[in-house]
Amino acid sequence: MPTSPSTAASLYDRVRRVIPPIEWPAFTGDIDAILALKRKRNAVILAHNYQTPEIFHCVADVVGDSLALARKAMSVDADVIVLAGVHFMAETAKLLNRGKTVLIPDLAAGCSLADSITASDVRLMRQRYPGVPVVTYVNTSAAVKAASDICCTSGNALQVVESLGAPRVIMLPDEYLAKNIASQTKVEIVAWKGHCEVHERFSSADIRELREAHPGVTVLAHPECPPDVVAEADFAGSTAAMSDYVGRHKPARVVLMTECSMSDNVAVEHPEVDFVRPCNLCPHMKRITLANIRAALEENRHIVTIDPGVADPARRAVERMLAI
Ligand code: 13P
Ligand code: SF4
Repeated sequence: MPTSPSTAASLYDRVRRVIPPIEWPAFTGDIDAILALKRKRNAVILAHNYQTPEIFHCVADVVGDSLALARKAMSVDADVIVLAGVHFMAETAKLLNRGKTVLIPDLAAGCSLADSITASDVRLMRQRYPGVPVVTYVNTSAAVKAASDICCTSGNALQVVESLGAPRVIMLPDEYLAKNIASQTKVEIVAWKGHCEVHERFSSADIRELREAHPGVTVLAHPECPPDVVAEADFAGSTAAMSDYVGRHKPARVVLMTECSMSDNVAVEHPEVDFVRPCNLCPHMKRITLANIRAALEENRHIVTIDPGVADPARRAVERMLAI
């Protein structure tokens, strides 16, 4: 939830359901410092749904899924953007904000999907499938985006694929997202073998066990999960779509087959919903902390830069997606 000028003490009410009182004092110094630094530097913090609740609910100005963060990055009114998320998200924010300083608090906050493919792999796919358009998931480097025709996120992948009007589309690099989209469209999808190290660990057997242990539980899954997991779930969608689902349907009991902080962040908004919590941590998302957000603003680090030869074509691929 976006914050207004405040102090840490007044923010605890927001997060008391998910942060025990004994842990709270460890956060207050950094929260107060970050709120002051944001005013001093005319900075905004964009935080992904997988950020921990003290970041998500106490210092972030904009929160959301990859698509929402990219859309918001286009219109942000600030000199400095701190991206509380992973490196590809910071690169996307920089692509859309040439003149602004974009900071990522830890340069090593990567992504197994982004690491699964290079720009020369994309060129090889083009040689293998001449004339077939390339849709690249935003979870990729700027160089990979530059080698593609258009980007997509988990929130708009189906619309992007169908917007091309092609009978066959190359969709990179997430094999499971590609297969999950293929099951919803007549467009033939050519996939790559990349996987999210967090979502590939969920299985359909996990869901069956959960349903047995918690009769009536509603199961929501991210489309980076394997297709059999998505098939067993009650609903699959981006992190924002899962959050909206909980808000709209208010299930008595729900499990989110995704990263752990997501349940905490959604639980804050829906005290009446019981969250069952098997989840997997994303070690990359967890590299971002209040301490390194504070250091990012104090020391102006780490500044995100993109090779100009890559930035222009990568921006075109992202903007083409955002125009849909
Ligand atoms: P969303 O775009 O659904 O937020 O997903 C981003 C991500 O990294 C999921 O693992
Ligand atoms: Fe990448 Fe998976 Fe982490 Fe998302 S959850 S940032 S896809 S490794």
